Amino acid sequence: MTEKKRDAVALDADHVWHPYTQAEGAPIPIEIVAGEGAWLRAADGRRFLDLISSWWVNVHGHANPAISAAIARQAAALEHVIFADFTHRPAAELAARLCRIAPEGLSRVFFSDNGSTAVEVALKLAVQYWRNLDQPKRKRFVALSGGYHGDTVGAMSVGASSGFFAPFSDLMFGCEFLPYPDTWEGDNEADEKEEAALDAARRVFETEGEATAALIIEPLVQGAGGMRMCRPAFVQRLADLARAADVLVICDEVMTGFGRTGEMFASQKAGIAPDMMCLSKGLTGGFLPLGATLCRENVYDAFRGEGFARAFAHGHSYTANPLGCAAALASLDLFDAGQWKERCRAIASGHRAFLDGLRGHPRIRRRRITGTIAAFDVDARDPGYASAIGATLKQKFLDRGLLLRPLGNVVYLMPPYCIEDGDLAQAYGEITDVLARSEI
Ligand SMILES: Cc1ncc(COP(=O)(O)O)c(C=O)c1O
Repeated sequence: MTEKKRDAVALDADHVWHPYTQAEGAPIPIEIVAGEGAWLRAADGRRFLDLISSWWVNVHGHANPAISAAIARQAAALEHVIFADFTHRPAAELAARLCRIAPEGLSRVFFSDNGSTAVEVALKLAVQYWRNLDQPKRKRFVALSGGYHGDTVGAMSVGASSGFFAPFSDLMFGCEFLPYPDTWEGDNEADEKEEAALDAARRVFETEGEATAALIIEPLVQGAGGMRMCRPAFVQRLADLARAADVLVICDEVMTGFGRTGEMFASQKAGIAPDMMCLSKGLTGGFLPLGATLCRENVYDAFRGEGFARAFAHGHSYTANPLGCAAALASLDLFDAGQWKERCRAIASGHRAFLDGLRGHPRIRRRRITGTIAAFDVDARDPGYASAIGATLKQKFLDRGLLLRPLGNVVYLMPPYCIEDGDLAQAYGEITDVLARSEI
């Protein structure tokens, strides 16, 4: 039988290797055939409400017609062109628009393919920046404990404490991890945790500042590390300490970018102006893989000069792919035209009422919200990403038509902004009901 005639799930079982999945004992993947708004439709007719924006990429809804049409128009005109020696309108316009909406001072865009490459680019830029300025000793990185920045080797190195990368420990370069003062509703120790983290930062910058290229953070919310949230004032004070030590500040906004925290970028919500910012995921509205690393003009300037040795020897075949750029421009048009901030506020207030309703639940801990992201921990004997409760809850949610993918014992919601209030209210009710049952 030819492949065209075989069932997709059977072909998948024979030939596909899925990400972040233990194939042994894994449930059969659900074949999705269509999407509309916040809904996904499976081949067998079931519908799922996407409460996690499909790995945090979707913002305006699935198969959004304006973005689909923009991609189709671009594909009919120019699908791709090498991005060295050539340019094209979608990339140039997108770069300019990103700089206009980005935190102040970010004026240059280096395109790549995904979130990990956006981070990898930022790390490499930081190292070569200092080398080009005749300070080659500045090549170390400081990061926040529990942060996650992607799966390539550099990104793993600065995310090593997330706990995902044990098999690769010998491949990674060293990184200084500061304590992360994550906080939640009713946390009485937030001030102390922040002071301890800032003291640690002071010590690190005092002793190793001159060997440090950059501080990299996920501003306000650590995503894959368990939707751990911190307060804006902490981010601000940490960035100030880095600045005072002449250390570059890299904001990894791959997850937090494009409105997730209620502002376009979490750095803006935190009130900081980073030297570099990494974007991907929501950049194309969730349609196509594209990464962007934004930087200040002084970073760009450090790479100018005589000879190729000062230039940034980095690029990907699909750098600034026109289809991805066209999708990103269409997504930005939707942001410009739409009431996304109002939608984000409505989602945040829905989240609040939902989490308030879980107060007093004997197994729910650490309820927290930042913008459109709500999270809580479920008490578990084996807390962490591999916690058994994660798989149990995921299945129970799927059985009720909800796409939620707990990070171990951390349940979180991060819906696309187009989600209907009624659908969200229904989902809150279903989740509350699942959690009320004794078998979880
Ligand atoms: C903060 C952050 N940085 C980087 C990445 C890596 O992005 P990608 O999966 O597109 O490589 C992720 C992915 O979840 C992320 O959340």
